[in-house]
Amino acid sequence: MYKILKAEKLADKIFLMDVEAPRIAKHCQPGQFIIAKIDERGERIPLTICDYDRDNGIITIVFQIVGASTYKMSQLQTGDSFADFVGPLGQSSEWIHEDLETLKNKKMLFVAGGVGTAPVYPQVKWLHEHGIDADVIVGSKTKDLLILEDKMREVAGNLYVTTDDGSYERKGMVTEVIKDLVQNQGNKYDVCIAIGPMIMMKFVCLLTKELEIPTIVSMNPIMVDGTGMCGACRLSVGGEIKFACVDGPEFDGHKVDFDQAMKRQQQYKTAEGRAMLAAQE
Ligand code: FES
Repeated sequence: MYKILKAEKLADKIFLMDVEAPRIAKHCQPGQFIIAKIDERGERIPLTICDYDRDNGIITIVFQIVGASTYKMSQLQTGDSFADFVGPLGQSSEWIHEDLETLKNKKMLFVAGGVGTAPVYPQVKWLHEHGIDADVIVGSKTKDLLILEDKMREVAGNLYVTTDDGSYERKGMVTEVIKDLVQNQGNKYDVCIAIGPMIMMKFVCLLTKELEIPTIVSMNPIMVDGTGMCGACRLSVGGEIKFACVDGPEFDGHKVDFDQAMKRQQQYKTAEGRAMLAAQE
């Protein structure tokens, strides 16, 4: 059993939990994820790692209620446990394996949308701890849904917050901030890392392609087994079939077929659609 050491509501339908998982905390790297199960018969819920404390063996996860399982998970309190908490899964962020001096000479831009701010945080924190301050754009529908702002401010070189409705800081989509930073302020970025809803990542990629900024995205398709066996998380990347759970979750955003990925995500929402996808796999 994996004990919940802290359960906190961050915003409407968005929750943070600190979970006792020493083995995962010891080995995980930014970019990786875990699969949680509330009880033996529960659905497997893939969640990217938001933070880790290697000394105290703690993994922090952030999730949004999107269905019955995440709703059930939101009802868990401090002191409750997960029946299963498997990880670290997937590949760590590619840039982590680069030589530190090369990284220090790179100008990196992170773009986080909504709950995607959670997986962006450990990446920016890792860089900060290694003496590299990246620029970060955080987009939220509205001020009340903005999460982890203070934590992000502590580790980001520059933090730009934008809300769709203009209720806090800038008004507009993250793509408008990218345009402003690059076209008006003359910033030159060597790489952009975008994590958020698929539709946001798609539009960030369309823009960064035009601006010629290589872009990495973290894909969050439906996952079932998390081991590359079931095919649920199948994606088309550069015309090749990839599995987000073992080959990803991070991919070259300019090569991902977002339209197909979004279509599959929609199909998974109905029993009929799931049966159809299963028949294709
Ligand atoms: Fe089953 Fe990736 S979740 S193959």
